[in-house]
Amino acid sequence: MTKNILVVGADRGIANAICLQLQARDDRVIAACLGDGEGFTEGGVETIGGVDVTSGEAVHKLVEALAARNARLDWVLHVAGVLGLDTFGEIDYDDMRRQFEINTLGPLRVAEACAPFLDAGSKLGIVTSRVGSLGDNSSGGMYAYRVSKAGANMVALNLHHDLSKRGIAVVALHPGMVATDLTKDYPGNFNYIQPADAARGLIARMDELELASSGQFRHANGEQLLW
Ligand SMILES: NC(=O)c1ccc[n+]([C@@H]2O[C@H](COP(=O)([O-])OP(=O)(O)OC[C@H]3O[C@@H](n4cnc5c(N)ncnc54)[C@H](OP(=O)(O)O)[C@@H]3O)[C@@H](O)[C@H]2O)c1
Repeated sequence: MTKNILVVGADRGIANAICLQLQARDDRVIAACLGDGEGFTEGGVETIGGVDVTSGEAVHKLVEALAARNARLDWVLHVAGVLGLDTFGEIDYDDMRRQFEINTLGPLRVAEACAPFLDAGSKLGIVTSRVGSLGDNSSGGMYAYRVSKAGANMVALNLHHDLSKRGIAVVALHPGMVATDLTKDYPGNFNYIQPADAARGLIARMDELELASSGQFRHANGEQLLW
């Protein structure tokens, strides 16, 4: 059955690949983009531009655009995020605040604003990062990103407690190590997967999500991760 799916942060990267794959399987995709969403003209995806997740005003405009479309949402996937690298002794606190605004407050602001469009059976996925896992932090560093994504994990778990009571399932998701603009300066050697591969895994996790499995932190490959 065709689903109405809102994907947030869809200008490029993993979210963009998610939109194109969902569109290809005939879901109705609404791509919320920070820019104007021009990249989608060939994909046939509906776009809403100017959605800055750090701005209450911009997110309110998103809500108005959804209301104008009369859209009950089956899924909301919050993917928008940024990575700024830092090291102890040289922390840029302004940049740390910026990452917190986007990575932590962004998904909360979007989830709160979109909650009226969700009902029993709807699903909310928040792409956080394994780097935000307290249980999995064996190497340290990346203060701003780790802290902001740990906060995003808490946002997801808290939203599970609030929304599952209404029959809405919530999951925190890690996409894997993915070759995107976000990771181009990431230190270390990793076997990066492509955005399309990450998108396939994330969509599979959303497909299988149900109330009984709400409130978990999952890798796109299906593994359950430590908070
Ligand atoms: N790539 C990885 O290996 C990896 C690993 C773990 C977690 N993640 C997470 O996966 C998500 C997607 O990352 P990606 O690799 O696809 O990165 P990406 O290619 O850099 O894409 C990030 C997306 O977020 C959007 N965005 C940035 N700031 C925004 C804002 N204030 N409001 C709305 N949208 C905003 C960007 O829009 P513009 O293009 O207009 O700037 C872009 O579409 C992020 O949350 C990231 O932390 C990625």
